[in-house]
Formats: sequence, C-alpha cells, structure tokens
Amino acid sequence: MLEELVQILANEREVGAYFRLTLLAPEIARRVQPGQFVHIRILPMRDALLRRPFSVFQAAGDNLSILYKVVGKGTAVLSRMQAGDQLGALGPLGHGFTVPKSSGEKPLLVAGGYGMAAMYLLAQRSPRPGVVFVGGRRRVDILCEQEFRALGWDVCATTEDGSYGHRGLVTEPLVTELRRDAKRKRLFACGPTPMLKAVARIADDFDVPAELSMDEHMCCGVGVCLTCVIPVKSADGWEYQRTCTEGPVFDSKEVLWEVPR
Ligand SMILES: Cc1cc2nc3c(=O)[nH]c(=O)nc-3n(C[C@H](O)[C@H](O)[C@H](O)COP(=O)(O)OP(=O)(O)OC[C@H]3O[C@@H](n4cnc5c(N)ncnc54)[C@H](O)[C@@H]3O)c2cc1C
Ligand code: FES
Repeated sequence: MLEELVQILANEREVGAYFRLTLLAPEIARRVQPGQFVHIRILPMRDALLRRPFSVFQAAGDNLSILYKVVGKGTAVLSRMQAGDQLGALGPLGHGFTVPKSSGEKPLLVAGGYGMAAMYLLAQRSPRPGVVFVGGRRRVDILCEQEFRALGWDVCATTEDGSYGHRGLVTEPLVTELRRDAKRKRLFACGPTPMLKAVARIADDFDVPAELSMDEHMCCGVGVCLTCVIPVKSADGWEYQRTCTEGPVFDSKEVLWEVPR
C-alpha cells in the first residue's frame, strides 16, 4: 500500500452525473489487482483528511482511471478539478476478485451503476470472456458497454424504466441465463447492497460460486477505524470483518446480511 501525491491527467464527464478521472499514479497503477480500490484525498476540500474510496476502473502503464458518480460534496468538488491539479491517493487497497482461469468456470459479472467500474480490470485480465449483466435506473446509468464488448465480452443491459436494454432488474436476465445452464459458472458482483443480496440468494438457489464487492461507508480505508465492518461467518459462528482490508470482495456464502442475535 502506498500514499502518492498524484496528478490529474484528465477529468471529463462521461455521461449524466458520471465522470472519468485519469491519474498519473505509477506505483499504484503497477500494483493494482481487479476489485481493489484507491482512497482519494480531495485536497481542495476543507475536510480533506476524510478520503473517498473508488474502485480502480482501468490501469495502464503509469496511469490509472476511476469512473465516479457525483453524489455529494466530495465528488462535486472532485468533478470541478482539472488536468494538472493534484490529489492524495492511498492504494491499492483491499482484497479484490479472484481472476478467472482459462480452464475454470465461465465468468458472469453483475454490475449496478458505478459497480461497472470495479469490473473492467477483471474482464480485461480474465483469460476467457464471459457475460456482463449491467443494470441501472435509466439509460445514463449503463456505463462503458462498448469497452466490455471490445474485450470480447457479451453485455446484457437492463434499465428499470425500460429506456435501454431489457426493462427490469439486472438479476432477471441473470436468472434466465442460469436457468438455461448454471454449470461451471462463477458470479462476480458489484453494486448497491440490495442487488448484492439478491445475487447471493440467486447463487445459493443455483449452487454457483459468487464473489461480492461490498459497498460500505469507509473512513480510514486501512483497517483502523472499524467504520466499515460487516458480519461474516467464521469457525465459531460469526465475526465482524473490515470491508476495507478483508474485503471489499467476499465469498457470498460468508456474508451474513444481518447481525445474528
Ligand atoms: C470499495 C468502494 C469502491 C467504490 N467505488 C466507487 C466507484 O468506482 N465509483 C463511484 O462513483 N463511487 C464509488 N464508491 C462510492 C464512493 O466512495 C462514494 O460515492 C463517495 O465516497 C461519496 O462521496 P461524497 O463526498 O460525494 O458524498 P457524501 O457527501 O459523503 O455523501 C453523499 C451521499 O452518498 C452516500 N455515500 C457515501 N459513501 C457511500 C458509499 N460508500 N456507498 C454508498 N453510498 C455512499 C451518502 O450516504 C450520501 O447519501 C465506492 C465505495 C466503496 C466503499
Ligand atoms: S474504513 Fe476504517 S477500518 Fe475500514
């Protein structure tokens, strides 16, 4: 894990409230694994000590990029920063996805909104292409479809308002696919908690392995403050684990969705 003062190379609107930020961050870019994240200190903010976590979307040579949605004050300040400005970046952090093997199960990725950002490196480093199920409320929430297709992956898009792809939830075509053939498939999911919970249930129903990138609020990002803990199964029953260090990616069979009484 490294702390780098990194330079913004580009920070441009992708679509709607989504921006693509490209950073010159050689040390982190070289080490990052799919599903890991960077903890960004937005220097112009008054409370710049509080960092924001973002999945690494792409990494190439000395550069890495992030795909982010403007949702609050940190991301709003970030969206106004320009090429040449600097940020503090701590990373790569966390435990990421298991990269599929060429002889292993077919990867099925399930992404909601900016969850797509955590999936690209995994697709790029997978020796065999699979299918990406991507969902959002509206068409503008369906991100970087062409980039996945360019890697040879099939993309199945769903929107809740039917403005693009199938109308409905991202889990519906996933279930159709698994009903067709669930053998030798592995699920990888990143998105809002209700979607992750649904994917875990589907993985159970069809008895397929699944890895989930949990979306929890984080403070320190390095295992100290315990803001980000979730209950997971353990040898003695259950225990809290930190999504910033033991996660964000967990085996779906280990995650407990409520604290046991
Ligand atoms: C491991 C990890 C990877 C992430 N990767 C990405 C990514 O690739 N792209 C991206 O756009 N966002 C990502 N996020 C979410 C991102 O960190 C938050 O959207 C960001 O911190 C919000 O900062 P803010 O100051 O703009 O919002 P705030 O002003 O702090 O909050 C605005 C709203 O966003 C909500 N919010 C804040 N943090 C989170 C969170 N972690 N999850 C859900 N809602 C949150 C708040 O509850 C509030 O409703 C990731 C989060 C985690 C934990
Ligand atoms: S964010 Fe501090 S322990 Fe995870």
